[in-house]
Amino acid sequence: MIAQSPASGNHTPVLLNAVVSSLVTSKTGIYVDGTFGKGGHTQALANALDEGATLVGIDQDASLLETFDQSGIAQSLHLVHANFENLDQALRAMGIQQVNGILYDLGLNSATLEDAERGFSFDRNGPLDMRFDQSQPLTAARVLNDYSEKALGKILFEYGEEKAARKMARAIVLRRESTSFKTTADLRAIVAELTPYKYLVKALSRVFQAIRIEVNHEFEALKTGLEKAVDLLVPGGRLAVISYHSLEDRIVKRYFQSQSLQPAPPEIQPYQNTVPGRIDIITRKPVVPDEEEVAQNPRARSAKLRVVERRS
Ligand SMILES: C[S@@+](CC[C@H](N)C(=O)[O-])C[C@H]1O[C@@H](n2cnc3c(N)ncnc32)[C@H](O)[C@@H]1O
Repeated sequence: MIAQSPASGNHTPVLLNAVVSSLVTSKTGIYVDGTFGKGGHTQALANALDEGATLVGIDQDASLLETFDQSGIAQSLHLVHANFENLDQALRAMGIQQVNGILYDLGLNSATLEDAERGFSFDRNGPLDMRFDQSQPLTAARVLNDYSEKALGKILFEYGEEKAARKMARAIVLRRESTSFKTTADLRAIVAELTPYKYLVKALSRVFQAIRIEVNHEFEALKTGLEKAVDLLVPGGRLAVISYHSLEDRIVKRYFQSQSLQPAPPEIQPYQNTVPGRIDIITRKPVVPDEEEVAQNPRARSAKLRVVERRS
């Protein structure tokens, strides 16, 4: 059965039971939800923890933190507007040096995706914004109107794995010579011009994903956020990460692998090249949702959960 979360609003939290059971190692510990969203995972953690535990919810989208109803949380809960790439600073500002568990549930929540004004959805016409954090200056419109053809091609290819990346970058630059990009419909029209109809939805997903990753420098933030999370865990503390596409998952998997082994000291080198590093990988294979969860929440379809534990 999938645990219910009353605080989740119109976003259904993914892999709730697996997250809570793998993350909670001390019922009175300090837990960080680094991607608070609608608070669904935080609420489920609160339900599993003793009243003496501490919860910290971080999100780079301030509007989500303002609307959360805290009445169902018995523990002390701190909500912080920050990017998890600055997790260390955010926690130190609260006097917290180490924590027992950290969750990153990557990407964006359903409410944000469905809000046309945020510009994330190719199905809804709205301004080309795509910022998670509305206080940041870079928008999707600026990327499309200001970046060079070469830079656009690289983004579409590397962050969207779009085969027609160079052709699309050329078309974007040609179009903006006469009319600048303002709305999601403008971007959709360019992709539609270059893509056979039966492949259109997949191409739109790739292109919108690529621009969103650039606007929010998502991969740099993820790499830094992973390093900082491992640094901040107590021995025996755990980090759980849910990713939703292969590029994100690869970053998580590679970082965990790199930290689970380290080069052996010279005296051991003749016998083995590596020794255990600072983390143990708890999920050899990523945990994925079962059929029941996918049927109830199609967005969970592509989710992959990886968990590690700090050794020392
Ligand atoms: C999939 S949603 C999380 C949903 C949440 N677990 C829930 O149950 O409601 C991802 C959230 O992470 C936030 N986010 C994405 N990248 C972030 C980052 N680098 N730092 C902080 N928040 C981030 C987004 O604004 C979004 O609200």
